[in-house]
Amino acid sequence: MGKGSGFGKVILFGEHFVVHGVPGIVSAIDSTANAKVTRKNKTIEVKDERRGSKGYAEEKKIQQLESINRMLKKMKLDPETTGLNIWLGGSLPGFSGLGASAASSVAIARAIAGEFTLSFSDQEINDIAYEAEKAYAGNPSGIDNTAATFGGLLWFKKNLAGGSNTIEKLSLRKPVEIIIGSTGIVANTKAMVKGVAERKKANPQKYNPLFKKAEELAINARNAIHQFDLMKVGNLMDVNHSLLQEIGVSCKELDQLVETAKEQGAYGAKLTGGGGGGCMTALTPGEDLQEKVAKAIEKEGFQVLRTKIGIKRI
Ligand code: PMV
Repeated sequence: MGKGSGFGKVILFGEHFVVHGVPGIVSAIDSTANAKVTRKNKTIEVKDERRGSKGYAEEKKIQQLESINRMLKKMKLDPETTGLNIWLGGSLPGFSGLGASAASSVAIARAIAGEFTLSFSDQEINDIAYEAEKAYAGNPSGIDNTAATFGGLLWFKKNLAGGSNTIEKLSLRKPVEIIIGSTGIVANTKAMVKGVAERKKANPQKYNPLFKKAEELAINARNAIHQFDLMKVGNLMDVNHSLLQEIGVSCKELDQLVETAKEQGAYGAKLTGGGGGGCMTALTPGEDLQEKVAKAIEKEGFQVLRTKIGIKRI
């Protein structure tokens, strides 16, 4: 039997903009997707036991099988003749926006490699998971699979010319509490990414300046993280949320969660990931503030994950 795991992630700055070459900042969280793989005759069967939003597993089933086929091809295994029993579990909930698909792809790729005694470097696993991500996201930036593979706090910039992406480790003086609130709405990242690309093409006068602002924002956020200026990081998260609203990827539930978090004293709050549902995240330094914000969101009937950013390597 082969085993593997992949980190969940939270995008702190730049989701959607990263697809178009703007830098983004992502942090792995202390929850993982875990996979176990054993060989069998021909067909591929997936037993998905991850906890999460109702309907997540069903909605993503077709994309999941396509992603496994893509991974097998990239690993030079024939999807027509390779039979697999795949078990998926782990502590990462199947909420949209936490990189659950990328984390599971990294976990499955590592588990397949283990079962077939294939040896891959982390960078190769990252490339395999990127292939898998195309099934879920259409034209992914690669930020999710990068965080799922390497963990930590990362600066990521997609190379639009097709060469290697820029991946740099950032460090935070100490880990900081955040909360992740789930709208419970299963979002379709592929459709959200496509929508932004179409609107950007149709209305460059509106979109180009917003993309320029997102770039400046990422650079300022990187400096604020370096200086451990958490108030500044929070303010910039707020600005990032308004940019995401302007490009049409927020929704009323996400805006409600952001507002609640801010009312309770969060330093900053924004949607995280593809939007259109999925999750929001709020910067809540200290366990007391984290608990206060989490409780208020739970009181409104939403699920919350309490975690930290900047954890070294889990
Ligand atoms: O919704 P998630 O967790 O898959 O995050 C998607 C992030 C996007 O920037 C919207 C897409 C991408 O490929 O970077």
